[in-house]
Amino acid sequence: MKKFLLSSSILSADFACLGEDTKKVLESGADMIHFDVMDNHFVPNLSMGPMVLKALRNYNIHADIDVHLMTKPVDNLIPQFADAGANYITVHPESTYHLDRTLDLIKFHGCKVGLSFSPATPIGFLDYVMDKLDMILLMSVNPGFGGQSFIPSALDKLREIRKKIDSSAYNILLAVDGGVTVNNIANIALAGANVFIIGSAIFNSDNYKKVIKNMHNALEIVNYGAIH
Ligand code: DX5
Ligand code: ZN
Repeated sequence: MKKFLLSSSILSADFACLGEDTKKVLESGADMIHFDVMDNHFVPNLSMGPMVLKALRNYNIHADIDVHLMTKPVDNLIPQFADAGANYITVHPESTYHLDRTLDLIKFHGCKVGLSFSPATPIGFLDYVMDKLDMILLMSVNPGFGGQSFIPSALDKLREIRKKIDSSAYNILLAVDGGVTVNNIANIALAGANVFIIGSAIFNSDNYKKVIKNMHNALEIVNYGAIH
């Protein structure tokens, strides 16, 4: 498996031709697709539902798709997204009364399990549910919109989570979501992330391939320790 994964957030894609734009970003080197679901309740925005995910699968998008649920409640949507073709389903602890049950529900429906923390959400929940997780998704912007700036305190939080993962027996991906650019990706990797969710930095550029390549190059340098 690759050491670092680039997951492209299609929230910033061209919705008028979402299938084509999603194919294009995968052909340009993205490893997986990040699918942001917003309900105008948990976050002040609306985005896409399971029908859109299903349409992408019908359009021959075969890459892994991680569904980031920014909705409240979440439980009723989990089977729908699993049926529509999600590989990962990620939820926020504030979006459910019974987090442990919600995480079990994701697994029961055959998906990998993700838990997401907003910038000011404490990570204490992890101590009780680490054994159930395939991915921890740390938000480095407040959930709701693409194109925001990276919140610097996320780096300390990343280091803390990295320590917890490394001192556990579990193999859990550590993703960072929000404000990731070619300029900060190396520092984010050094703080412990191995999945980078990137929306506007790719889709607002006129050369996806070049941005993705520049990001891989920045990560290569981290790989070889040249930045220390
Ligand atoms: C924000 C979303 C992010 C966002 C990332 O609520 O969860 O996935 O789309 O986009 P950029 O890279 O533009 O911050
Ligand atoms: Zn997201």
